[in-house]
Amino acid sequence: MPVITAPIRTARRVDRFTYAIRNIVAEARKVEQAGTRVRYLNIGDPNQFGFVTPPHLIEAVDKAMRDGHNGYTASAGILTAREAVAADFDRRGVPTSPDRVLITSGTSEGLELALTAIVDEGESVLVPSPTYPLYTAVLAKIGAEPQYYRTDPAQQWLPDLDDIRRQITPATRALVVIDPNNPTGAIYPDDVRRELIAIADQHGLVILADEVYGDLAYAGPVPPMASLDRDAPIISYSSLSKAYLAPGWRAGWMAVGRTPRLDGALGAIKKLADGRLCSPGPMQYAVTAALTGDRSHQRTFRSELERRATLTTTRLNAIEGLRCVQPRGAFYAMPQVALPPGKTDADYILALLRSTGILCVYGSGFGTRPEDGFFRVVFLAAPAELESIYDDIADFTREYLRA
Ligand SMILES: Cc1ncc(COP(=O)(O)O)c(C=O)c1O
Repeated sequence: MPVITAPIRTARRVDRFTYAIRNIVAEARKVEQAGTRVRYLNIGDPNQFGFVTPPHLIEAVDKAMRDGHNGYTASAGILTAREAVAADFDRRGVPTSPDRVLITSGTSEGLELALTAIVDEGESVLVPSPTYPLYTAVLAKIGAEPQYYRTDPAQQWLPDLDDIRRQITPATRALVVIDPNNPTGAIYPDDVRRELIAIADQHGLVILADEVYGDLAYAGPVPPMASLDRDAPIISYSSLSKAYLAPGWRAGWMAVGRTPRLDGALGAIKKLADGRLCSPGPMQYAVTAALTGDRSHQRTFRSELERRATLTTTRLNAIEGLRCVQPRGAFYAMPQVALPPGKTDADYILALLRSTGILCVYGSGFGTRPEDGFFRVVFLAAPAELESIYDDIADFTREYLRA
């Protein structure tokens, strides 16, 4: 038999799949190979910038491993973790039963499970523009379409409710709400959140409430969206990644709203969860430790973040040709550069990288238009380091816009 030597073909769905936050690292490596130090402001990982996981979480995982909890768990997660999540939602004004909670490999897996369970090929999901790119990546994988709704920098990056209403079709199945928001740092007021719930109710949509930064609003934790209407069709998400400083553990959770409208979705999600066996077992023990133990690290973290957010907006707004809305939570800002005609956000960001070694991600990686000149800055670095980075961005931008 002759041996076939042609390369193995890959699936077409991969061509639709992009993840700019990590893809751009290939460009950064080239810059490093050419001898320039790269300052990575592309990934929102607090642990890479000196913020450390609270010790009682590490002890809980260590103890779980030593106590022999190294096997598979129930696919929805261990009961004690689900009880802790349900009790935490209760405390935040959302009565929740552990039966409607799943422990997942980060928020990411929970979102993928829900989208896969709810959205058929050819159907669509409303996602904010700009968005955290996981949503568009998962939709590409399952053959569904994103419908980008506008969020407006002139209105503190709040969602344009009319744009959402205008876009809904019979094929629209879900509405993604990221609040506090990555990449904009926006926090939505209750009247906006209530309108979003009303839209979902009127059109039979499920809201995927991405609340991974809920405890990282600088003014203090934001109540879950589901607390505004306990019978709304909302699936709430969070994880240990950001507010508990353990992103590599891949430990997250989802709570499916108590409305019977979501019973079918809950069943479908659990069915899919069976297929992947379970999320990492020992890390599930840290969920209980996190939600029932000391959270004082969050107060320090929030004030460190607020200081960096103010520094970021003050410095960036002082650069001619740049504008930046002040973030109110999380560790991202989404400035806009007034690009010369014909230039794209990626042109600017790649030129910045090659000239200064500073790696940000261009806005079109989050769904904004390339000519609009948005880009995302992760401002977790120490304030002195950020000062030096913004000095370099100022010098570079002056030259770039003059050319
Ligand atoms: C808005 C948003 N959702 C979800 C995630 C994924 O988080 P996790 O580590 O819990 O999967 C991130 C990570 O950056 C995020 O910014």
